[in-house]
Amino acid sequence: MKIGIDKIGFYAPHFFVDMEKLAETRGVDPAKYTIGIGQEKMAVAPITQDAVTLAANAALRIIDEEDLAKIDLVIFGTESGIDNSKSGAVYVHDLLGIQEHARCIELKQACYGATAGIQLAKGHVALNPESRVLVLGSDISRYGIGTAGEVTQGAGAVAMVISAEPRILALENESSYLTADVMDFWRPIYSETAFVDGKYSNEQYISFFVNVWEDFKVKYGATLADFEAICFHLPYTKMGIKALREVLDEGSEADRERLLAHYQTSTVYNKIVGNIYTGSLYLSLLSLLELSDDLKAGDKIGLFSYGSGAVGEFFAATLQDGFKEALAAAEHGKMFAERKEVTVKEYEDIFSHVLPVDGSSIELDVDADPATICIEGMDYNKRIYL
Ligand code: CAA
Repeated sequence: MKIGIDKIGFYAPHFFVDMEKLAETRGVDPAKYTIGIGQEKMAVAPITQDAVTLAANAALRIIDEEDLAKIDLVIFGTESGIDNSKSGAVYVHDLLGIQEHARCIELKQACYGATAGIQLAKGHVALNPESRVLVLGSDISRYGIGTAGEVTQGAGAVAMVISAEPRILALENESSYLTADVMDFWRPIYSETAFVDGKYSNEQYISFFVNVWEDFKVKYGATLADFEAICFHLPYTKMGIKALREVLDEGSEADRERLLAHYQTSTVYNKIVGNIYTGSLYLSLLSLLELSDDLKAGDKIGLFSYGSGAVGEFFAATLQDGFKEALAAAEHGKMFAERKEVTVKEYEDIFSHVLPVDGSSIELDVDADPATICIEGMDYNKRIYL
């Protein structure tokens, strides 16, 4: 029985800031941001978008009436959720109109949440082959204005339908995972912004990748030659290549060329969106699948997921017949083209303009946001969605 990704959609808020202009304002050589970090544009979420609305807008792109009737599990991976009690999945379930006999939960393990969701969804579909599972990875990444992490912020969501007989990617049972208690990146519940030990987080990311790849090779007798491409969690697009380079010399010249070329394709969307935490690996996968012209059914893709704190996983998936037709490249291209650039000052104002935390009511200008689903306001500590 094949189980895997049947549909995948992406949504980014309609604002972005240009990284060269951000660098100039911060007194940094723009090449540090565009080459050293590898980011060109950073998605900026207006006050009318949060992790819930981004996820719902991403899901709207892919689900149809049959999905609404058949989805019986919604898994919401996020590390910028809106409530410490109620899951974002319950809001999305309602906003989309999914049938009521469904389980809805939120999963947290930093950027690993959506991968955990996919693996749990796989088990659910194995036991219930008629089921469809909606897995969401949605986040707004915030380090703070003028911090070292600022250049690695972003906002957006990926939505995936996991089912039997998937049209895009079948998840193989081959997987290696690792957990270790490390303080590389964290966000205490009282803080709106993340704390990070930047260099240490890079080292941990690489060390987790090398560890799970070694384990994967031993467990399954795998080599780099088995993979047409490897996609990485991309907090910024230079991160994945640092990890890939650690193992590239195990392969032939052809392996190196193929994996490096596909790595570049897998970073195009992430370069113009930034870090979307839980969704970043799947945005990279989307970039690879939608923009490559040499991938074919049967090709094996490796996926490396990393969630600080930390959990890492390397797993394998196989491209399915007709996968290109199941993607929405034109729609995603249109969404990117229609985004609006904001100045660095405007981005700073948007960043600082947050919803009230004192229970006061507020009405927001939803006409200023082209998204279908928005936050309309707040009333007595409740977010009102439109
Ligand atoms: N031209 C070209 N390149 C330049 C340059 C210039 N003028 N100036 C500097 N660079 C290069 C540097 O040489 C360096 O390259 P290498 O990494 O290849 O050595 C790169 O630009 C970055 O420079 P610095 O290391 O000096 O940058 P920094 O001290 O400002 O910090 C950072 C970079 C650690 C990534 C920081 O942005 C940060 O803390 N980000 C958040 C944490 C993060 O994303 N960690 C990733 C792993 S954890 C994870 O994956 C989970 C997650 O999502 C958060």
